[in-house]
Amino acid sequence: MNIVRQSPSVLVFDSGIGGLTVYNEIYNKVPNAHYIYAFDNELFPYGDKSAEFLINRVNSVIETITKFYTIDLAVIACNTASTVCLPSLRSKFSFPIIGVVPAIKPASLLTKNKCIGLLATKATIERTYTTNLIQQFAANCSVQLLGLSELALIAENKLQGITVDMQQLKELMQPWLELQTVPDTIVLGCTHYPFIKKELQMIFSQATFIDSGYAIATRVYNLLNDKYDLKQKTSDASENIVLSTNYNQSVEKLIKKLSNYNLNKYQLIKA
Ligand code: DGL
Repeated sequence: MNIVRQSPSVLVFDSGIGGLTVYNEIYNKVPNAHYIYAFDNELFPYGDKSAEFLINRVNSVIETITKFYTIDLAVIACNTASTVCLPSLRSKFSFPIIGVVPAIKPASLLTKNKCIGLLATKATIERTYTTNLIQQFAANCSVQLLGLSELALIAENKLQGITVDMQQLKELMQPWLELQTVPDTIVLGCTHYPFIKKELQMIFSQATFIDSGYAIATRVYNLLNDKYDLKQKTSDASENIVLSTNYNQSVEKLIKKLSNYNLNKYQLIKA
């Protein structure tokens, strides 16, 4: 196979800042790619939208992005979107598309007490995709599901500098605190949640938390490494880009923080 001497353009997409947790893992593994981090803040949160709505919306946002930028690989860094949008996206776009889905399989290999907790948006918890994942990989475990609409916002707020209200978080986790067997392995099934892992760990001090970030980064590396020379960054890849579908005060604040993530150029896109 011919190795392309040009940095690949990788799109990482989410409804909000959650995808940054995945982007971070990918960036650490593949620092020489060119990145576009896009988030659909106009319609955040995705966790309360229907499957049909999300399929149309995500397709249309990605289509708009492709009008401005060449994409060599896309990561849908959102469990809520990935669990419904991947087939339609893959049939529409010719570049490889990697989705993020709850890490049930690794959790089933890790749990000792055979009790796994899946923390995700309400939409992800209700998806047939998620039910099938559990049946396929964790049929021998008790899987406790907790679908919450508040957690992604708590994570967004934390990144904006608002301290997590531990009392509120504890109340949200109450259903699991009342269980006879508390999960020893907790799957963070929403890409926003690694931002509040520290606070969740304070509540479930004995539990191991798992997210899909590292596995996705490895998958991205393997796919790109087959085709591109990843040892060098070409000059066309010097600026990593942030796109959002709405511009407001929060975005303004966020952009300042994003230079810590090596995302240094902003553009508003209208889908
Ligand atoms: N980050 C998204 C996920 O992984 C969801 C957040 C939202 O509700 O928009 O599911």
